[in-house]
Amino acid sequence: MTFEDDVRRVARQIQDADTVTVISHIDADGITSEAIMMQACADAGIPAQSVFVRQLEPMTMKYVPEDSSLKVFIDLGAGQQNLLEERSMGTEDVAIIDHHVAQNVDTPYLQANGQPYGYNQLSAAGIGYLVAKEMNPGHPHLGILAQNAVVGNVGDMMAREHCGLTGPAHEIAADGERAGTIRIVPQELNCYGISTRPLRICLSYSDDPFIPGISNNEQKAEAFLRKLEIEERTAGGRQRVWEDLNQNEKSAIINGLAQQMLATGQDISRLLAEHYIFPGEEKGTPLRNASEYATMLNACGRWAKPRVGSAVCAGDRAQAYREGEEMLRHHKRIIREMMEYILDTGTTALSHIQHIHVGDRFPDTIVGIGAGMALSKLDYEKPIMILCYLNDDPELTKVSMRTNTRMVERGVDLQAALITASEEIGGGGGGHKIAAGAYIPRNAEEGFAERVNRIIAEQRN
Ligand code: C5P
Ligand code: C5P
Repeated sequence: MTFEDDVRRVARQIQDADTVTVISHIDADGITSEAIMMQACADAGIPAQSVFVRQLEPMTMKYVPEDSSLKVFIDLGAGQQNLLEERSMGTEDVAIIDHHVAQNVDTPYLQANGQPYGYNQLSAAGIGYLVAKEMNPGHPHLGILAQNAVVGNVGDMMAREHCGLTGPAHEIAADGERAGTIRIVPQELNCYGISTRPLRICLSYSDDPFIPGISNNEQKAEAFLRKLEIEERTAGGRQRVWEDLNQNEKSAIINGLAQQMLATGQDISRLLAEHYIFPGEEKGTPLRNASEYATMLNACGRWAKPRVGSAVCAGDRAQAYREGEEMLRHHKRIIREMMEYILDTGTTALSHIQHIHVGDRFPDTIVGIGAGMALSKLDYEKPIMILCYLNDDPELTKVSMRTNTRMVERGVDLQAALITASEEIGGGGGGHKIAAGAYIPRNAEEGFAERVNRIIAEQRN
């Protein structure tokens, strides 16, 4: 069996269904995944509905309808197959398209998952795209599906490790380029916000790589641009963004930053990255490139409006888009507040991890994002754990953990650590080595961080 065989089998199972229910996750990868599968079903003439859940867990299983439709779980399901078994769902009732670590269960549900085959840089939307491509040989919407798949992959950080997509995820971007929906821009500055962030913000907010004297320092970023005689505003007075610059200006900035890094002995290997621009989207909007588009979808999904994101993915540039922009503004403000809270309060450092409890200040759906962003400003050697309360269940605590590739190379596996520690106390978790989460009973919070700390100490080599 190969991954390609699995993709084909899942595609056949869907094609043979009378009706389909797509069950997906509320983040950028989940929303793009849903949009891809709904389009694929529409193109194949299969009636389909969809359901979004913040996580597949006992409490949210009630949203999975008990009808005769084929249940297509995407961006979730692999790690929760026991829940499907408990519901007595048969293999003919289920198809899983996922990139999370799969559970060992008695019922081997049909699954397209790149992870067991070593495709660790392909998210659910990418696999969904491959299934969709297989389902509809005429490929009526390949370009838009590829655009959505690239947003999902970038949103799940699949382009981070190698400063660009690789393997099948890159081939999907190339499909989009051939179809005219994607422009792959190699060797660009590795920074976030190339389509909407004013230049000095774009530079000073970048911390991967950390640029001494620029990162976290807006004034110095401004001085740097002034020295290079790069205008920060257009003739009309609008603030310029990276995408507005001409090649000479871009080269001047990249060379200047490289010099600044080399002068302080920094590694410049992460200074450049590949970007994915969507030429069909309006300039200056967050839909113009994959990473900003993903942030807008996260803003919709993580603030309980995944359908708004899904409508944007399906092409709505009117009401859903306006609502998405509003969600994005709100999301950015709260994330900024959470970062400030974490950095001002400080984390509690144990020997191998650091943790902080944010109580009910921030919703469980966004603490993982805050954890990832805060870690880049804290001791990177210690994975960060954020705990928070769930507003709809007073008996549960949500745990989010994030680390980085350097620590994963040294043996850290957050997914394994959280599964072990949470199951010991009647909770449950999952995810990836680099990013994982769990729900645990609130009354078992005490000592949880210490337990995870011990497990991670044992993992380290
Ligand atoms: O699957 P879950 O895949 O939903 O991941 C959610 C978050 O985990 C992403 O928003 C991303 O921040 C993080 N993640 C990561 N690196 C990966 C996979 C996920 O940082 N390889
Ligand atoms: O919620 P958060 O962004 O921290 O999730 C990180 C990763 O952990 C995601 O891939 C998510 O799917 C997974 N997770 C899980 N079980 C939970 C919570 C999160 O598998 N209870």
